[in-house]
Amino acid sequence: MNKPRLVVIGSLNMDIVVETERYPQVGETLLGERVRFIPGGKGANQAVAGARLGAETALIGAVGEDAFGEQLLGSLLEDGVDITGVKRVAGMATGIASIYVAEGDNSIVVVPGANYRVEPADIDRHEDKLRQADIVLLQLEIPVETVVYAARKAKSLGKTVVLNPAPAQTLPEELFGLVDYFTPNRTELGRYTGMNAEGESLQEAMLRMKEMGAAHIVTTLGSEGSAYLSEDGALRLKPGYKVPVVDTTGAGDCYNAGLARSIAAGSTLDEAIDFASLVSALAVTKFGAQAGMPTEEEALRFAAEQKTTGV
Ligand code: RIB
Repeated sequence: MNKPRLVVIGSLNMDIVVETERYPQVGETLLGERVRFIPGGKGANQAVAGARLGAETALIGAVGEDAFGEQLLGSLLEDGVDITGVKRVAGMATGIASIYVAEGDNSIVVVPGANYRVEPADIDRHEDKLRQADIVLLQLEIPVETVVYAARKAKSLGKTVVLNPAPAQTLPEELFGLVDYFTPNRTELGRYTGMNAEGESLQEAMLRMKEMGAAHIVTTLGSEGSAYLSEDGALRLKPGYKVPVVDTTGAGDCYNAGLARSIAAGSTLDEAIDFASLVSALAVTKFGAQAGMPTEEEALRFAAEQKTTGV
């Protein structure tokens, strides 16, 4: 059987991850416990997860001509991601994400650097990759103009578009109509619809999002799982897995890659969400964004364990 084929268009960052006992207050200096440099960036994370989960995966993006860029490309190659669509930009720094991990959660500041040099011309240059893909997977850590252009091109080529609309940005209305699967978290859903998406209001917000044009809405709900709307607009809640949480960084990226890989392989949305929930649960059991992405074998083993233990 042919492998599912993904093209991911998005960011590459070096994650500078500082572990501290608690978050610093404004104006306070804290002594942290440990710092690690771990490959990240929503685009690269989704590409690595896709490749580890058995999809033929290509990434279109940009890094600087610096040591971080070199390291990020090297680790993508080790994971078998096609990086011929990642350009090196002279005079620009590779994107970095400054991440604090404390109190069982994280907070992130991204400095995009070269990621903001991913242009519509890059999409044209790598049109062959879009043509060969089953799914085009997008996020919002590159210029919105490029995301819209890529989605337009993907649709004109008859491709399925998955947009993980993170981090939340002001988006042109046109973009929603170009998206087959729109995958916000609850906070992003609230931001895009201008509605309360908490508790009972979730369904209403998702229905509003659908009216805005995206064909399918899948909302991730952290440890509560995720939700989607069936054809008749009914809310379907899919519970998450109970796992020991080590680090949630990149869990959303793993979810999106799992969803895209599964849809590309011909699964229904319901099945694809099951797979996405399973692999993103595994991702939080390890430290680091790309470091924590599971392989297809690990996912299958975990699925089998869940069936046996009925957890
Ligand atoms: O989604 C997690 C990612 O967000 C991190 O790897 C970091 O680079 C930021 O882009």
